[in-house]
Amino acid sequence: MYRRPRRNRKSSAIRGMVEETRLSVKDFIFPMFLIEGQNQKVEVASMPGIFRYSLDLMIKEIESCLNLGIVAFDIFPAYPESKKDKYATESHNPETFYLKAIQKIKETFPEACIMTDVAMDPYSSDGHDGIVENGKILNDETLEILGKMTVAQAQAGADIIGPSDMMDGRVGYLREQLDDNGFTDVSIMSYTAKYASAFYGPFRDALDSAPKWGDKKTYQMDPANLHEAMIEADLDTEEGADFLMVKPALAYLDVIRLLKENYNVPIAAYNVSGEYSMIKASAERGWLDGERAMLESLISIKRAGANVILSYFAKEFAELQKK
Ligand code: PBG
Repeated sequence: MYRRPRRNRKSSAIRGMVEETRLSVKDFIFPMFLIEGQNQKVEVASMPGIFRYSLDLMIKEIESCLNLGIVAFDIFPAYPESKKDKYATESHNPETFYLKAIQKIKETFPEACIMTDVAMDPYSSDGHDGIVENGKILNDETLEILGKMTVAQAQAGADIIGPSDMMDGRVGYLREQLDDNGFTDVSIMSYTAKYASAFYGPFRDALDSAPKWGDKKTYQMDPANLHEAMIEADLDTEEGADFLMVKPALAYLDVIRLLKENYNVPIAAYNVSGEYSMIKASAERGWLDGERAMLESLISIKRAGANVILSYFAKEFAELQKK
C-alpha cells in the first residue's frame, strides 16, 4: 500500500494541518430577541440558553459578545398581541421600542454590525409575513409596508436589512426605497431560499409569531425543491442583494452548495431555532454530546459553502474558542 490516508490522521498536529474548513468567530451573526421594558431577561422555553432581553440587558449581552469577538447581531423584537394589527403598523412607527433600541445599540457600539429582519409576522395580528385578505397573502401591497419598515430600520441605524418575507420583487423594491432615501450604504441580506420549515417552531415561540391560521407554503419554498432556489437567487442578485441566504441550514446543505457554486455573492446560512433546540434537547437528556454536535453542525454548514452563519450557537462557540 503506497497510499494510506490514515497517515494524515495520525496526530492532532497533522490533523490540524490538513483541516480543510475552519470556523472563526468572524463567520457568525448572533440572532437575539428583544422585549420592551427594563431589567428583563426571560429564557425562551423551547430554546435553553437563549433569552429575550430588554434593551438595557441586551446592551450588556452585546458587550460581552463583542469581547468574545462576535461583531454582528440580528435583532428580533417580540411584540405583545395588543400592539399587533393587520398592517404591522408598529414595524415602522418611529416611536416604537425596537427602532429606538436599534438606535441606542448603534450609538453604544458603532463598530458592531446590526442586522434587522424585514417581514410583517412579529407585528401582524395574522401572524403572516404579508397582508392577509380573504385567506390570501397579498404580494404587491405587502411590499409597501416592507419598504416603510426597511427605511425606518435604516434610519434607526441598521447596517444590514434582512428581508425574510419571501414576497416576489421585494429585494429590488427595498433597494430602491433605501437608495431613494439616501441609504445607499445599507446592505441587503436576502432570505433567498427560505423553506416552509418545521424547524422555525421555537423561534415562533420566542416571538409569539406563529400564523393564526394556515401555513406559509404560498410564499416560503417547498422543501422538495432544489433548483427553484436558483430562480430566487437569479432574481435576488439581479435586484441587488449583497448576500444570498439559505434557511434552514442543516437540512439544506445541498442548497447552500448549489448557490455557492453558481453565484459570486457571499452566501449566508441560517442555522435556525429548531436546529439549535434539537441539539440542546438531546444533550440535556444525555443522548449526545451537545458541544461536539454543535461544532459538527457548524463546520458542515461552512463546508457546504456558507461564508456567513446566523446561529444561536454563536456565543457558545465564541466562548469555546477562548478556552
Ligand atoms: C420571520 C422569520 C422567521 C425566522 C426568521 N425570520 C420565522 C418564520 O418565517 O416563520 C425563523 C428563525 C428561526 O427559526 O430561528 N419571517
